[in-house]
Amino acid sequence: MARFTDEELMRKVQEGFIVESEADMTESYRKALINQITVQGDTELMSAPAYWMASKDAPSTNTMVSATAIIQDELGHANIAYRLLQDLGVDTDALLYDRPPNKFKNPFGFDQPIANWAELVSAHGLYDRAGITLLSDVHRHTSYGPLKRALVKVGMEENFHLRHGEAWMKKLCEAGGEGRDLVQRAVDWMFPMGVEWFGMPDDRKHHNAQLDFKLKGMTNDQLRNTWLKAVVPLCESLGLEVPAHSDPDTGEVELEYGFPCEWDADDRVWLYDQPITWDQVWERWRARGPMNEEFVNSVRRSRGSIERMLAA
Ligand SMILES: [Fe+2]
Ligand SMILES: [Fe+2]
Repeated sequence: MARFTDEELMRKVQEGFIVESEADMTESYRKALINQITVQGDTELMSAPAYWMASKDAPSTNTMVSATAIIQDELGHANIAYRLLQDLGVDTDALLYDRPPNKFKNPFGFDQPIANWAELVSAHGLYDRAGITLLSDVHRHTSYGPLKRALVKVGMEENFHLRHGEAWMKKLCEAGGEGRDLVQRAVDWMFPMGVEWFGMPDDRKHHNAQLDFKLKGMTNDQLRNTWLKAVVPLCESLGLEVPAHSDPDTGEVELEYGFPCEWDADDRVWLYDQPITWDQVWERWRARGPMNEEFVNSVRRSRGSIERMLAA
């Protein structure tokens, strides 16, 4: 029997109570927490094959080391998340190896191929910024003690990924020519992916267990705005075009297209003149992007053969 009712626990965490173990949880709290950490772990894990794909395009030994160090960090972050799930009684072996690939909960952006160095560093500049935005909010506000402590290391490493990405975006843009064009093309398809990353707008989401149980502090729209206020000025300062602008006085950012809109998966372009509904976005997300199966299989690949060796 749980120590608290949902209402009691909601009130307690809003007053600063920190949950340390399952004994302090209600079933709804546990469910919301497991869902949140699964999204976190899956996103970290699937970023690794996505980044690996493009790291082969690293322009030097040094940059190859940086790119692979980031991948190692991401796998470590995934490990932290899945380890936390184990403490909550989740069978992470089944989660990793028996789940159909389309049930992984990573964002649509990590179902896409990252094709070259310019796309990789832009992904660090835009997607790792999305990760930092989400996780630093969780770190600041979460009522779950073990997650709060684990995110200290994750946050420091994510900051390195972001700085690496931004510094390289700048380097390529300042060099001009083909490098600049490649970054522009990367941002063209990644920017709206980033806007979608934060999910449904607040006016469509009436009940939110993660906010009620203080598993996070900011709403989807607040998180999206935080990301936009960092990414749009960055792109503007590099002379990159994005379908948004920031007000230099207030810092507020305004999108210049009807969000959400249609994605042309064949040509990898956003059709800004074709707004769609959130039901259609969900349909696209559920259908998954082109690399979903390959990325999931790539992290499972050698398990069978190693198991056979160990059993021999
Ligand atoms: Fe990460
Ligand atoms: Fe990262």
